[in-house]
Amino acid sequence: MERLDKLVSQRSSLTRSEARSLIKRGEVAVNGEVCKSCDKKFDSSAEIVVGGKSLGGKYLYLMMNKPEGVVCATKDSLEKTVLDILPPQYKNRGLFPAGRLDKDTTGLLLLTNDGEFSHRIMSPNKNVYKYYIAQTDKPLSEDDISLFRSGIVFKDGTKCKSAFAENLKGEGACRVGVKICEGKYHQVKKMLAVCGVKVQKLERISIGFLTLDIKLPKGGCRELTDIEISQILFSSFT
Ligand code: URA
Repeated sequence: MERLDKLVSQRSSLTRSEARSLIKRGEVAVNGEVCKSCDKKFDSSAEIVVGGKSLGGKYLYLMMNKPEGVVCATKDSLEKTVLDILPPQYKNRGLFPAGRLDKDTTGLLLLTNDGEFSHRIMSPNKNVYKYYIAQTDKPLSEDDISLFRSGIVFKDGTKCKSAFAENLKGEGACRVGVKICEGKYHQVKKMLAVCGVKVQKLERISIGFLTLDIKLPKGGCRELTDIEISQILFSSFT
């Protein structure tokens, strides 16, 4: 919960004192109602309208091209997090990463402040497939590919759901495509390790029907369009 004057100034280019005078003049509405008290506290997902202009809806949905070297957490005392690299207008909006990528994994990461949305795409029961491309030390054999389909079992006995793997054609380094609908810790690296294949680089390319925007530079982010939000929500096979 944050004071209204703070929320208005965080989401706009207004200073705290400019925000306070607009609030006192009755120019600020929160969740559809005018609020004239600067110190009233609201949730970070509150919908704020100033002079008829929305400063952001209830929920935010961002796509990030996650770079290497940042961790998928909201706070970390030692490491830089994906929230630390967001542009200022997205700070203090209650955003969190919907699912995790390892520190050294790059590519498509969704950030939102909508817990239900996050659950819908991350829960293994919702069967939303995530596609990864791994740069590896060698290709998969046909037996490995069948093993992915029947369900890889880790050394500790953990069984993965049926998944899809393929060798990707192209020049240079070996590349393997992997599609999974779960998010176990280090899952893709561990699945490939079971086949004796070592991952050198890993990138997430898509979540359900939503694919990483190739125009986004590493570390860049943008809001999802309404169509993309529906694409994600329709990606669940339950
Ligand atoms: N699987 C991994 O091993 N790492 C990731 O970051 C994501 C999936």
